Amino acid sequence: MSDTTALLKKKRTMDKNFPVFNQLESKEHEQVVLCSDPGSGLRAIIAIHDTTIGPALGGLRMWPYQNESEALTDVLRLSRGMTYKAALSGLNLGGGKAVIIGDPHKDKSEALFRAFGRYIDGLGGRYITAKDVGINVQDMEWVHAETKYVTGIPKILGGSGDPSPVTGYGVFMGMKACARKVYGSDSLEGKRVAIQGAGQVASFLADYLSQEGAKLFISDIYEEKAKKVAGRTKAEVVDPDEIYSLDADIFSPCALGGVINDETIDQFRVDIIAGGANNVLDDEEKHGQMLLDRGIIYAPDYVINAGGLINVAGELEGYDSERAHNKASKIYDTILDILNYSEENQTPTFTSSNILAEERIKQIGRIDSIYSSSSRFSKRKGEVFLRNRG
Ligand SMILES: NC(=O)c1ccc[n+]([C@@H]2O[C@H](COP(=O)([O-])OP(=O)(O)OC[C@H]3O[C@@H](n4cnc5c(N)ncnc54)[C@H](O)[C@@H]3O)[C@@H](O)[C@H]2O)c1
Repeated sequence: MSDTTALLKKKRTMDKNFPVFNQLESKEHEQVVLCSDPGSGLRAIIAIHDTTIGPALGGLRMWPYQNESEALTDVLRLSRGMTYKAALSGLNLGGGKAVIIGDPHKDKSEALFRAFGRYIDGLGGRYITAKDVGINVQDMEWVHAETKYVTGIPKILGGSGDPSPVTGYGVFMGMKACARKVYGSDSLEGKRVAIQGAGQVASFLADYLSQEGAKLFISDIYEEKAKKVAGRTKAEVVDPDEIYSLDADIFSPCALGGVINDETIDQFRVDIIAGGANNVLDDEEKHGQMLLDRGIIYAPDYVINAGGLINVAGELEGYDSERAHNKASKIYDTILDILNYSEENQTPTFTSSNILAEERIKQIGRIDSIYSSSSRFSKRKGEVFLRNRG
């Protein structure tokens, strides 16, 4: 056996014994922190995917994961998604996420969230948290009692409050960009838009669309929620099962993930799919390619729904609602760039957005090699220099 073969074999054997490191290395995660505080029952994982262009920001999720492998896989997947989202939103942030293993209806306490806040604080700003599934404002206030590295806190505590208005606005702008690509004009007047879900994001989106003169259809598993939005936007309330096959121009998923799947994909008669929900494609590669083959324009979820991230990121510089809306309006240009790239390269839009995000990380990461002692975002070398002098 040659030396090289022996080395490779040894490496493979070692890899088999290091499943967690393998998982980290396969998608280039920087750091994973396991947090345990038996006193409060805290079991949490913080994952930092990439900090090339700034500190990792991403929400905290509480979920009754069945085992630690499930929790680790989820936090690794979500944190990587945040890297791409921040990069394409033009933010100077990296990607991170945290999960607390537990039932959000039964296992919450002040001590648990304050203990978690201490672990975040210990990271010294490498990870900044925010609210995600299973977490409410009270929980965030407890985390905030122990660390300043928190966003998405109530306005009264200096935060930005509910991000949904900015998310809804960003989805509206992204939808207009899709219309420009497909119809040659970004006006949505007279366009038939089918909105799935009548929650926070859908509600703000519906207002913008109705002001523009779009014809709306809306569904929610709670009919009264759909009726409430319909009352002020003249939308037609439809049955949740009917929403996929409506004779409409645009489908806007604003409820759940995974709604573009093997069962639904052949039902669509729309030109555009553009909505606020996360993880809309059940299988990104397969269903992204199927939409491309069917000539349906798909606005990648993490790009079009980035208004929420843009909103909380604003807290890091001193929150201003107008500035957050201005930044979210740039989702229009980003979506257009992605659609143009996809057309030129015949790639699904999801793939195109990943490529463009990686390109920005590479470009901005590269300028860090240029010495600067004062640049806000590339002063690392300068900092080292000053520390050595001090
Ligand atoms: N709120 C934000 O700022 C934000 C930011 C980024 C992404 N998102 C994503 O957008 C989506 C909506 O978020 P939200 O804050 O509006 O949540 P929400 O809970 O206020 O609204 C979701 C609505 O969908 C309805 N629903 C659930 N299943 C349905 C179904 N099968 N058919 C029709 N309606 C159904 C619910 O009853 C609810 O009214 C989520 O996927 C969320 O992750 C939200």
